[in-house]
Amino acid sequence: MVKIAPSILSADFSYLEKEVIEVDKAGADYIHIDVMDGHYVPNITFGSNIIKVLRSLTHKTLDVHLMISPVINFIEDFSKAGADIISFHPEADLDPLKVINLIRNCNCKPGIAIHPNIQVTEFEAYLDLVDIVIVMTVMPGFGGQKFINDHISKISMLKNMRIKKNLKFEIEVDGGINLKNSKICKENGADVLVAGSYIYGSNSTKYKNLIENLR
Ligand code: DX5
Ligand code: ZN
Repeated sequence: MVKIAPSILSADFSYLEKEVIEVDKAGADYIHIDVMDGHYVPNITFGSNIIKVLRSLTHKTLDVHLMISPVINFIEDFSKAGADIISFHPEADLDPLKVINLIRNCNCKPGIAIHPNIQVTEFEAYLDLVDIVIVMTVMPGFGGQKFINDHISKISMLKNMRIKKNLKFEIEVDGGINLKNSKICKENGADVLVAGSYIYGSNSTKYKNLIENLR
């Protein structure tokens, strides 16, 4: 069954504690945390201090998506704060291999994220080194954008590469997920769906149904 990773980017920050506890109770598998630096992407969100807070609220997998450049200087902070998965955009750092190794040495699972402007083949060399690959289906930087259909083919391409190379990484689809496109993502091989505004745009009493509908 597909895993669901609500992105706290669209949560109501006045009630962050409640928002996280509610999606945890509603059956979220991962808590997706979008870290933005105003440099790699044109928006700023939060740092490792928020990961530390979230760690104290849930035992669910903390799935940290770094949209920052450079990356290497911050890995230890995010790991110490309690991240389980740390994904980054390889083009955002001078030495992606060093970043992947550092994430692993910090006892976290490394992941790479594929920006809409980048082809899967450009990052083929990293596939056997990571535990998760994020296919971005919106331009990184903001929640609530429209899903870009053009990138669905990247999901099946990654699935085929995984079979061919006998690898085990998870394929996570991130951006603009709704009921309709979640089905297409699953048919193409998605293992994890990130859902921000689709879940948090609703009332907390509906989180459980929304998560179940996406599966
Ligand atoms: C975009 C982020 C996504 C996004 C998810 O830069 O990586 O995680 O905010 O939110 P929705 O589902 O609203 O696109
Ligand atoms: Zn994300």
